[in-house]
Amino acid sequence: MKYFSRLLMSAVLLISQLSFSASAISSTLNDAYTYANYDQVITNHLYLDLTVDFEQKSLSGFAELSLTWLDESASKVVLDTRDLVIHRVLAQNNQGQWQKVSFSLAKRDEVLGAKLTINTGAKAKKLRIYYHSTEKASGLQWLSAEQTAGKEKPFLFSQNQAIHARSWIPIQDTPSVRVTYTARITTDKDLLAVMSANNEPDTMRDGDYFFSMPQAIPAYLIAIAVGDLHFKAMSHQTGIYAETNILAAAVAEFDDTQAMIDKAEQMYGKYRWGRYDLLILPPSFPFGGMENPRLSFITPTVIAGDKSLVNLIAHELAHSWSGNLVTNESWRDLWLNEGFTSYVENRIMEAVFGEDRAIMEQALAAQGLNYEIAELAPGDTQLYIDLKGRDPDDAFSSVPYTKGQLFLMYLENKFGRQRFDAFVLQYFESHAFKSLGTANFVKYLQANLTDKYPNIVSNEEINEWIYEQGLPSYVPKPTSTAFSIIDEKIAQWLSDEASLTQLPTSKWTLHEWLHFINNLPLDINLERLVALDHAFDLTHSKNAEIAHAWYLLSVRAGYDVVYPAMSEYLIAIGRRKLIVPLYKELAQTEQGKAWALTVYQKARPGYHGLAQGTIDTIFRK
Ligand code: BES
Ligand code: ZN
Repeated sequence: MKYFSRLLMSAVLLISQLSFSASAISSTLNDAYTYANYDQVITNHLYLDLTVDFEQKSLSGFAELSLTWLDESASKVVLDTRDLVIHRVLAQNNQGQWQKVSFSLAKRDEVLGAKLTINTGAKAKKLRIYYHSTEKASGLQWLSAEQTAGKEKPFLFSQNQAIHARSWIPIQDTPSVRVTYTARITTDKDLLAVMSANNEPDTMRDGDYFFSMPQAIPAYLIAIAVGDLHFKAMSHQTGIYAETNILAAAVAEFDDTQAMIDKAEQMYGKYRWGRYDLLILPPSFPFGGMENPRLSFITPTVIAGDKSLVNLIAHELAHSWSGNLVTNESWRDLWLNEGFTSYVENRIMEAVFGEDRAIMEQALAAQGLNYEIAELAPGDTQLYIDLKGRDPDDAFSSVPYTKGQLFLMYLENKFGRQRFDAFVLQYFESHAFKSLGTANFVKYLQANLTDKYPNIVSNEEINEWIYEQGLPSYVPKPTSTAFSIIDEKIAQWLSDEASLTQLPTSKWTLHEWLHFINNLPLDINLERLVALDHAFDLTHSKNAEIAHAWYLLSVRAGYDVVYPAMSEYLIAIGRRKLIVPLYKELAQTEQGKAWALTVYQKARPGYHGLAQGTIDTIFRK
C-alpha cells in the first residue's frame, strides 16, 4: 500500500511538474520552518484582497489560494500563520461551488507561529481564508506620520524574509513553494500602495490598487508598502518610489542602476522580471535592502551623496538571479542565496565601477568576516548552518554572505573566470524558478564543474568549505594596493614618522576611510582621536558607514566626545547592521550600558520589531 501510494505520488509529481513547470515542486520536506504539508498539496496562485487600516494597524480581507494536489489521498491543507485572526474558510469544489469548511488553529509556537489546518474534504480547487492581521504582525511595521520623513502621512511596509509572511498572509511560508499572485489593496485616497509586482508608475492615486505578479515567487518575496510615495524614472526600466523630500537625492545616488542591470545581463543571462524599481523606506527599515522582486526595498542610510554605498543596489539587483530566480529551499541553505548574491554583487560592482573598488569591497567584507568568526559560536560558521530549531533571524551573520562569496571566488580562481562564469550562467538557467538545497547544489557543482574539469578542486575541499567551521587555510585573501598603502600610513602616523596632515586623505574614497578607521588600534591614544576628529569631524560624518565605524572605535577607545552625536544616530536610524554592534559594544561596560539604555528607551518605539527583538536581548543579559 505504502509502496503503491509512493508510486502514485511520484507519478502525480511527474505530471504536475510537466504542467506546472513554473512552480517549485518538492517531494521531500526539507524545510523545518513551515507547518505546510507541501509534499501533498501546493499553492500555485494567490489572490489577496486586503484593506489597510492604519488606525487598527491591521490588514483585513481574504486570501484566495489556488491549489495543486500532489497526493490524491490527502484531505487537509496545512498553512502557516502567526498572530492572525481567522474568521472563516471557504473551499471551492470542482463544480465551482464555494462551501464553508472547518479548520483548526493550533497553539502558537514561539518560532513557527500557529499551524492552521483546513479540512477541505474532497479535493478543493481553491480556498478562501477571511482574516485580519494584528498589531503584533512581525512582518509589518506601521509608522505614524511623525515617524516618516514627510511627517504628514502614515507609512506601512512589510519585511517577510525569513518567516514573517505568515504574520500577514495565511500561506505555505516556505521558500520551497512558489506562487504567482494578484492583489487588490484598498487604503486612504491620498496614499499609494506598491507591491513586489507590476507597479504602474502612472497609476491613479485613488486608494484602490490592483497588482499582478506573473512570475512565481516564494512567500518571503511577497511585499507591500503604503505611504505618501511618489515616483521618478531613472531609465526606461528603472525608477524610484520614495517620499518627496528624498526622491531627487535617491535618483541622483542610484542612477547607475540601469548600467548594473545591463552588465549583470551580459554575465548571467536575461533579467526576467520586467521593471526594476527601488523603494526608499523610512530610516527604521531594519535591513540595508530587501530583494523584493521588481521593487527592491532600500534603506535611506545608503544615500550618501557620492554613490559610495551603491553596492547595496548591486546586491539587491543580483538577487534577481541568485535568490529570486534560483532559491534556497530552506533557511539552512541561506548561503545559496546570499553567498551567490554577494559574489554577483561584487562582479557587478567590478563591471560598473572598476576592479580597484571591487577589490576594496571584497577586502572590507573579508576583514569583517574574520572579526565576526572570532565572535561567533563555531557551529554558526558553517555555510550549511545547523539552526537547531532557533529562529532563523537569530542565527543571522556575515558567514552565508562573505564565506559564501569567498568560496565562489575560490572556485573562480581555480577554474578561471571563463569556465566559472559559464557554470554560473548555466546554474541560473537550469534552476530558474526552482528551489534547491545545499546537497543538490553540491551534486550540480560536481557534475558541471569539479568533475567536468577534474583534479582542480577535490570533493574534500568542497566539503570543507560547505560543511566545516571557520575558513579553510587556502581561503582567498583579497588584497587591495590602496589598503596596503593605508596600512603603511597608519604605521607611520602612529610612530610619528608622519603627521596627520601628511596622510593623503583628500583623495580617500569611503572605502579607504573605512579601512583606515577599522585598522586603527583599539588602544589608540585619545589625543590621536581628538586630532583626527578635529581635522575631519568624523563624529558628524554624514556617511552612515563612516559614522558607524568611528563610533565603534570611539566607544572601544573611550573617546566620549561622540556620545551626543551617536545618540542622535541611534535614534534616527533603525538599520540593524548599523545600530546593533554599537549597542553591543556599549553594553560591555556598566556605564556604557546604562547610557545605551537611556538612548534605547527613546529610540525603541521607532525601531522595527526585528531590531527591537535583537536589542532587547542585549539588555536582558
Ligand atoms: N535578503 C537580505 C536581507 C535578509 C536576509 C533579510 C536574511 C532577512 C533574512 C538582503 O538581500 C541583504 O542581504 N541585505 C544586506 C545587503 C548588504 C549585504 C549589501 C543588508 O541588509 O545589509
Ligand atoms: Zn542579500
